[in-house]
Amino acid sequence: MITTIAVANYRSLIQLVMPMAPLNLITGLNGSGKSNLYKSLRLLAETAQGGVINALAREGGLESAFWAGPESISKRMLSGEVEVQGGPRKNAYRLRLGFASDELSYCIDLGLPIPSASAFALDPEIKRECIWAGPVYRPASVLVDRKGPVVKSREGRSWQVVASHLNTFDSMLSEVADYQLASEIIRIRDVIRSWRFYDHFRTDAAAPARQPHLGTRTPVLSQDGHDLAAALQTIIEIGDHQALTEAIEDAFPGATISIDIQEDGRFVLRFKQYGLLRPLTAAELSDGTLRYLLWVAALLTPRPPGLMVLNEPETSLHPDLLPALGRLIKKASENTQVWVVSHARLMIQELMDSGRCNALNLNKELGQTTIEDQDIFDAPAWNWPGT
Ligand SMILES: Nc1ncnc2c1ncn2[C@@H]1O[C@H](COP(=O)(O)OP(=O)(O)O)[C@@H](O)[C@H]1O
Ligand SMILES: [Mg+2]
Repeated sequence: MITTIAVANYRSLIQLVMPMAPLNLITGLNGSGKSNLYKSLRLLAETAQGGVINALAREGGLESAFWAGPESISKRMLSGEVEVQGGPRKNAYRLRLGFASDELSYCIDLGLPIPSASAFALDPEIKRECIWAGPVYRPASVLVDRKGPVVKSREGRSWQVVASHLNTFDSMLSEVADYQLASEIIRIRDVIRSWRFYDHFRTDAAAPARQPHLGTRTPVLSQDGHDLAAALQTIIEIGDHQALTEAIEDAFPGATISIDIQEDGRFVLRFKQYGLLRPLTAAELSDGTLRYLLWVAALLTPRPPGLMVLNEPETSLHPDLLPALGRLIKKASENTQVWVVSHARLMIQELMDSGRCNALNLNKELGQTTIEDQDIFDAPAWNWPGT
């Protein structure tokens, strides 16, 4: 289980250290930094897929993603006594992302290259990556250390070079594949690759989830939901069929679903509702019903990931469905760690009711995102490796 996620200098997150539980709920007013936090998690996940630099470029480059305020905010700036101002920087400017677990932890440092005449002078570079044992970084607990192009792993009392020509834009997680040389790299990579993100499902008339599709066994619903019928059929055959029936009954009393397989092998979802003479197909369902079924398929996955990240799952769901969605999310958190951003009061209430929800409310002070009521004593212990 992940115990901590830490972010520094990413947009409004100057320094955020977030404790993690099996079920985590992020709330906060508009502009408090919820989406920034979600995006920073996606960026962290990209490192293991080899796409962190491209993902940053899509966001407008490192210059745009960096915290745009002063290097440090003084008490006098906070109280309004003096204006917000920045002096010359004392430390190298680094965007940093990391996570901890009780066994292995990881962080990555991104920065700008030394100024040059190259056309790529604004390309971010990976400056450092570390894997250490236990939740808190200490120099003595480091197992794998990447500085610039060189990756070293600890071998008893000495260090062994694992790679020496890494490109500045490649993470060691995507480039080092030798289990013998550094098993920790492969283990961290596999952890991060198992994280699953769900953002907005399309439900317009041309949405992929409304079209019949060729079905294959689908233990993991795709991010666009085009394989909804196959994912539901997979739950029926090898997953928690009873939980599926209950989740539908919970939201639509008396309703049932079935999957029809056409002669050409295409799967069609049929939704039988109390009061109707024939079942409706996915093409005919209301946006809310379709979206709820998409969440059912995503959350009851027969192959739960290490971490499931849900960004505002309430979007365009009827308020009546929110408590049922909340119950579904709680159920999913029994098998996988769940991290969810939400504004929806009814769902928040349902999640909080479980008594074991780690609820974090975000605030913004002078442009900086903070966790409400977190002082330095409640923040989980976290150190960044030196630059
Ligand atoms: N590079 C940056 N530096 C500092 N703040 C930023 C930067 N980019 C965006 N922001 C701030 O982040 C805020 C948006 O946060 P966001 O995560 O979208 O909020 P929400 O909680 O509504 O999802 C904006 O108010 C903007 O001021
Ligand atoms: Mg947002």
